[in-house]
Amino acid sequence: MVATISNDKIPNNVHLSDDKRLQRALEQWQPNFLSWWKDMGPEGFQEKGVYLRTAVSVDTDGWAVFDHVKMPDYRWGIFLTEPEKDRRIPFGDHYGQPVWQDVPGEHRNSLRRLIVTQGDTEPASVEQQRLLAQTAPSLYDMRNLFQVNVEEGRHLWAMVYLLHSYFGKDGREEADELLQRRSGNVDKPRILTTFNEPISDWLSFFMFTTFTDRDGKYQLKSLAESGFDPLSRTCKFMLTEEAHHMFVGQTSVRRVIKRACELMKEHSTDDLRPHGGVDLRLVQKYINFWYTASLDLFGNEISSNAAAYFAAGLKGRSDEHKYDDHVARDGTYAMDVLAGDTIHKETIPLRNAMNEVLRDDYVRDCESVLSKWNAETRDQGIDFQFKLPSRRFHRKVGQWSEAKFDLAGHAISEAEWDQQKDSWLPTEAERAYVHSLMKQVIEPGKMANWIAPPARGVNDQALEYEYVKL
Ligand SMILES: [Fe+2]
Ligand SMILES: [Fe+2]
Repeated sequence: MVATISNDKIPNNVHLSDDKRLQRALEQWQPNFLSWWKDMGPEGFQEKGVYLRTAVSVDTDGWAVFDHVKMPDYRWGIFLTEPEKDRRIPFGDHYGQPVWQDVPGEHRNSLRRLIVTQGDTEPASVEQQRLLAQTAPSLYDMRNLFQVNVEEGRHLWAMVYLLHSYFGKDGREEADELLQRRSGNVDKPRILTTFNEPISDWLSFFMFTTFTDRDGKYQLKSLAESGFDPLSRTCKFMLTEEAHHMFVGQTSVRRVIKRACELMKEHSTDDLRPHGGVDLRLVQKYINFWYTASLDLFGNEISSNAAAYFAAGLKGRSDEHKYDDHVARDGTYAMDVLAGDTIHKETIPLRNAMNEVLRDDYVRDCESVLSKWNAETRDQGIDFQFKLPSRRFHRKVGQWSEAKFDLAGHAISEAEWDQQKDSWLPTEAERAYVHSLMKQVIEPGKMANWIAPPARGVNDQALEYEYVKL
């Protein structure tokens, strides 16, 4: 199918040119978005041509075009996957009833909150990453960063489309506020803590796109099940873009590991500092930090909100079809529960455990990522295997945040934590070392010393291609 393109500026398949109300709302919002992008988007590169992919339709074999574009001229569009004929609410109390094309009055506030929380993460990550290009390890990587940034911008558009189209005046106010909060700002911070930490080195960026964007994948998958059909269709299309963000993370960390292995063999040592590499133990510490920070984003283990969202048919499980019981009214979940300083199994009503169910899927997915990274060390003949820490380790949200645990998930005292934490998480000195490696490399095809080249270029282009015209 061919997308309706109402004008050059906003590619879309929502009949924007016929929708006067939406046009008016977007006309007001768009200039504010652009001035936000210019203030808070990639600093110092707004006038450069970047080889970017732009979504122009939802057609699976031609949904995107590639071209050099200046980022403020990027055509942020609005796309929903095609409606599924006779789609039914796939879970919860309304299981089997026709999906909603409008917001049901009784679920209005909950839906708005879900959309705003998701929407807030999109500009937040652009803000967190705005200085990174100044230290890009190659033009290829710089281009990938900008691709992720403009697509997070489009994800913001996607959520704003829902707010403008379905939530009237308070939707418009929420859309304005999405441009007013700022990552890390004391007075007007972004909603979720993890999105308020600046990302000032590329190892962190690659960990963020591996682990934090993967949280995004599971949030989107659970919203793609929603009985509110426009939200479902919006999130399904966002997932196609999200896959690229995780590709950037996963393949780039693998390139860091590959380079570390090469340096280890070349210099017969695992101390790579004198040779300008990131040693594997330090990569493991970054995993420990970013994986656990991302686990926090799934929320409390036992959650009445999650139960209410599931019951109402607003937010489901990822891949709801793989379950037999879609109502889950009588189901249970055997959960580790912390009581004082002991941990025991408790039987929790399944609906109250939905955050944990989603987290379980996420953990499994992360394990498969680590197995790819471990394949790299194995291929290189290096005896080192990465491991995910226990989900109790280093948590700031949920029951495990109330005590201290080691990497294996054993409870430890505060004193033991203080003694050992520097061997588990990156220290100030290690972060400073990683920072010291961050030097911009802009000769086409060249890579910084700490990272191996990628297996191939973008969209069949050579590695030496001028991905960003500086
Ligand atoms: Fe996103
Ligand atoms: Fe993303």
